Amino acid sequence: MIKSIYQAAEDRYTNGMEYRRCGKSGILLPEVSLGFWQNFGGVDDYERSEAVAKYAFDHGVCHFDLANNYGPPYGSAEETLGLLMDRCFRPYRDELLISSKAGYDMWPGPYGNWGSRKYLISSLDQSLKRMHLDYVDLFYTHRFDPETPIEETLQALVDIVRSGKALYIGISNWPADATRKGFEYLAARDVPCLIYQGRHNIFDHPHSDNGVLDVCDENGVGFIAFSPLCQGLLTDRYLDGIPADSRAGHGRFRPGFMTDERIAKARKLNEMAAQRGQSLAEMALTWVKSDPRITSILLGASSVEQLKTNLKVVSAAPLSPEEMKMIAEIAG
Ligand SMILES: NC(=O)c1ccc[n+]([C@@H]2O[C@H](COP(=O)([O-])OP(=O)(O)OC[C@H]3O[C@@H](n4cnc5c(N)ncnc54)[C@H](OP(=O)(O)O)[C@@H]3O)[C@@H](O)[C@H]2O)c1
Repeated sequence: MIKSIYQAAEDRYTNGMEYRRCGKSGILLPEVSLGFWQNFGGVDDYERSEAVAKYAFDHGVCHFDLANNYGPPYGSAEETLGLLMDRCFRPYRDELLISSKAGYDMWPGPYGNWGSRKYLISSLDQSLKRMHLDYVDLFYTHRFDPETPIEETLQALVDIVRSGKALYIGISNWPADATRKGFEYLAARDVPCLIYQGRHNIFDHPHSDNGVLDVCDENGVGFIAFSPLCQGLLTDRYLDGIPADSRAGHGRFRPGFMTDERIAKARKLNEMAAQRGQSLAEMALTWVKSDPRITSILLGASSVEQLKTNLKVVSAAPLSPEEMKMIAEIAG
């Protein structure tokens, strides 16, 4: 047997990470998962990306989340994962749950976007090549396509599972009524949806109000919460300005995303976190964890230090009802 150049920590499953059942499925997910949207692209320092991924895995984070267009440039986060598989994780393939997605613009012309059968199937074939994988554990439709018949998108997902290129299917960013239809369609074909992926943080939690969290709960489908730190706004990163090496400093925030009002609220939340002996990031993640319908917190980190801080959520004291109320009042 070829000796691996990376030996994962022996205590990776006994160092505190908890695993939550994903809806009514056989899958357990770590309560913290690692996203590759940013920090793993061709423009990022590979050594740093590798250090973050290894630290995560060494601490029980066995779910890595990708998409065809993560980078930048598009596709390059999947290429980084391919390198990581070759250099570190190949011996641990069966310990990892790796996801990818298609739905946003990926290549020019009419077949590189949205939800057609043509796009989803060819995109996954490309993703597998970039990631040096035979199959993904989980494949998502990345967004709802109002123009393509919902049955075409869903049948493509069913056929992808039947072809062995993905083990499970997920839905991301779909409205509640289409999500319910999607769950019914997939379940009727014995390919039940495993999980819904949606934005969920103290500032922005649309799925609490639009019914998606309830639809997931009712249908035995898990929910994984992305951007739990509101891309860094719910940390100490921007309390005193915009650091040059930050996501906002790199111009990777949508215009209008960071407002003076949000920064003022983050400062108040930061004071509250300090009173309970936590960083703002830890408290923001503790807030996400407090909803029992959330299977896993899908976070990003640009350094091992950040990830280290964030993993403290695993052992954090739960927020009391009074604290939850106070957070809601501050967040407005
Ligand atoms: N399905 C979808 O449409 C969708 C959309 C968005 C995201 N996602 C998934 O969700 C994952 C996470 O999203 P996200 O990156 O927006 O998550 P996030 O956890 O809200 O933000 C991560 C960013 O916050 C900053 N940060 C993290 N920990 C910190 C700490 N302890 N102290 C200070 N700053 C800290 C870092 O910013 P700096 O880089 O500035 O250091 C980091 O890159 C993505 O990778 C992707 O897998 C999915």
